[in-house]
Amino acid sequence: MKTFSPTLLSWYHQHKRDLPWRHTKNPYKIWLCEIIMQQTRIVQGLAYYNRFVETFPSPLSLARASEDQVLRLWQGLGYYSRARNLHAAAKSMNGKFPATYEGVRALKGVGDYTAAAICSIAYNMPYAVVDGNVYRVLSRVFDIHTPIDSSEGKKQFTALAQQLLDKRNPGDFNQAMMDFGALICTPQSPQCAQCPLRTHCQAFEKKIQAQLPIKGLKTKVTTRYFHYIYVEQGKYTWIAKRGAGDIWQNLYEVPLLEGKNENLPVKHVPAWFGTAKLVPIGKPVKHVLSHQIIYAYIYKVKVPLTRKVPNEFKKIPADSLSQYAVSRLMQKLLEQI
Ligand code: ADE
Repeated sequence: MKTFSPTLLSWYHQHKRDLPWRHTKNPYKIWLCEIIMQQTRIVQGLAYYNRFVETFPSPLSLARASEDQVLRLWQGLGYYSRARNLHAAAKSMNGKFPATYEGVRALKGVGDYTAAAICSIAYNMPYAVVDGNVYRVLSRVFDIHTPIDSSEGKKQFTALAQQLLDKRNPGDFNQAMMDFGALICTPQSPQCAQCPLRTHCQAFEKKIQAQLPIKGLKTKVTTRYFHYIYVEQGKYTWIAKRGAGDIWQNLYEVPLLEGKNENLPVKHVPAWFGTAKLVPIGKPVKHVLSHQIIYAYIYKVKVPLTRKVPNEFKKIPADSLSQYAVSRLMQKLLEQI
């Protein structure tokens, strides 16, 4: 227990990844990085982090942007509620990033994990982060079998992480856990041969590292079938902004019919296109989200110039479609047009 933190920190100082937000103590930039990096791989997140810092160098500049502009810059990262929350939080700051843990935790989109990461890294406050990396490393080193998705597990791992935290270097300790979980104590095939904690790791001793951490509950996954229709009306096409209620809120898409299976729900095609024929295009796209698997299909339809655009859509020049923020799924389908 006593050797855990010094060993981890000494490993970190030799092997830490050189990431742009590790050269700053600016809480605004660290907040941007932490929101972007949630559910995102470093290589992908890096480009977005650099773009956000460059486009919006301060809370005020982000607050003054339009939501469309923020979503457009976020495009491709997924989980768009993060971008909407980011924007709302910037607006709530009045130009100044909060200076206390409570203030940071109260920002829209900031939970326990993100508040601990920001406050430890930017302000040197003694808050341990608890994420997938932390569950994995601690469950293995200390041979803990409590399910990580139970409230008891959350409590137990949080208390242990807090106890192990190096209170003088909380930011380094937390980032050491992240890097160690990403580079050595990986979910599959951990690098035990190179692990500095090997001689202390109880799971390694019992050869059960592959079985940890334990997950108890299963998340329910639903399957959905999306049929998208790309309208060609001369040089124009039709799009709609998705309404409230899901992860793609306020993103744009071409007309959508949701079906019960892979067949276009022909009977339910509204009178949008008159009698024009819908022609399937390209290959279906399978899109996997945390709680849903979406099978998406795209069709093309030629609509006469005289047809009035239905109220639920907006008619735009087809070559301006790339200026609208769309989901990654929509992007993949449109690439086939
Ligand atoms: N993932 C989330 N935050 C991170 C950080 N500060 N360093 C490395 N990976 C991260």
